[in-house]
Amino acid sequence: MSKVILTGDRPTGQLHVGHYVGSLRERVKLQNSGDFDRIFIMIADAQALTDNADNPEKVRRNIIEVALDYLACGLDPAKSVMFVQSAVPELCELSFYYMNLVTVSRLQRNPTVKAEIQMRNFEASIPVGFLTYPISQAADITAFRATTVPVGEDQLPMLEQTREIVRRFNAVYGDTLVEPDILLANNAACLRLPGIDGKAKMSKSLGNCIYLAEDADSVRQKVMNMFTDPGHLRVQDPGKLEGNTVFTYLDAFCRTEHFDRHLPEYPDLDALKAHYQRGGLGDVKVKKFLNAILQEELEPIRARRLECRKDVAAVRDMLEQGSRTAREVAAGTLADVRRAMKINYFDDASWLRECEAGA
Ligand code: TRP
Repeated sequence: MSKVILTGDRPTGQLHVGHYVGSLRERVKLQNSGDFDRIFIMIADAQALTDNADNPEKVRRNIIEVALDYLACGLDPAKSVMFVQSAVPELCELSFYYMNLVTVSRLQRNPTVKAEIQMRNFEASIPVGFLTYPISQAADITAFRATTVPVGEDQLPMLEQTREIVRRFNAVYGDTLVEPDILLANNAACLRLPGIDGKAKMSKSLGNCIYLAEDADSVRQKVMNMFTDPGHLRVQDPGKLEGNTVFTYLDAFCRTEHFDRHLPEYPDLDALKAHYQRGGLGDVKVKKFLNAILQEELEPIRARRLECRKDVAAVRDMLEQGSRTAREVAAGTLADVRRAMKINYFDDASWLRECEAGA
């Protein structure tokens, strides 16, 4: 069986370093590994509308921003098909058939959807489209026969839901759909990179993000203001690593070679951590080291983004071409689904014979 990746992002804002370590960096590695037959990266505008119905302008504006972030990080249209969800209407039809295989109570149990409902004050009146977005996500994944879905931890319930739909569909209508596996980042800091304030997650509404497109000065300021150990008042005091955002970022970004370049008096991160815990290592020094690493990683991304920005028409064309390719693939799966469900009446000679026989 061929190995296929599908993943995507909602275009509700620019992507930040949480997206980068949680998924984007990994996607680029997977893309360049040559281990996959096809890779599809979807800008999930239709899903973004399920909780932004009254703000289509935000979604419309951010499609190109997300595409620029993709290209800047190294996703390459020669290797990965980048496309826009709403340009593939086959996904809607698949969702419509899958809806019959899922109960309302099952959707209401989805922990990610539950948390989002609370966050958006939807408790009193949940939009139907929002409650059912895990079903549409199953359509996104299965339409491309994805075997591997690299996403953040919060997407686990969506993958569970997809696998259930696949099993149910195949049991009822015969083996048709492919059951996908989730691929999570293998490092705890990458799985859930906190905001610069140390709060659970980076989020635009909390104003605690470092964006991929952000300029060097502003990144440096954010690093210098990062939350550390509030009990670490003097340099000589012992410091704590738990909940210390600067060290969580180092866990996500630091490689041993960074020490040679930026902090040669330590052999590796373990030695730096040990000194911090012992006392005698100040926050400013650690923050400067983190800043050097971040700048080194983000600088080429920023430069590529500015370069791509100069020709937005080319980015538009790339998305249009990608959407055309994606649509062809999804149409193939939809045809298989219709055949399996025996609703392909006009391509199916046996339907006419059954009708004639009055069966
Ligand atoms: N739910 C994902 C997010 O919020 C976006 C998404 C939509 C997605 N469809 C998908 C991710 C299919 C993986 C596979 O970021």
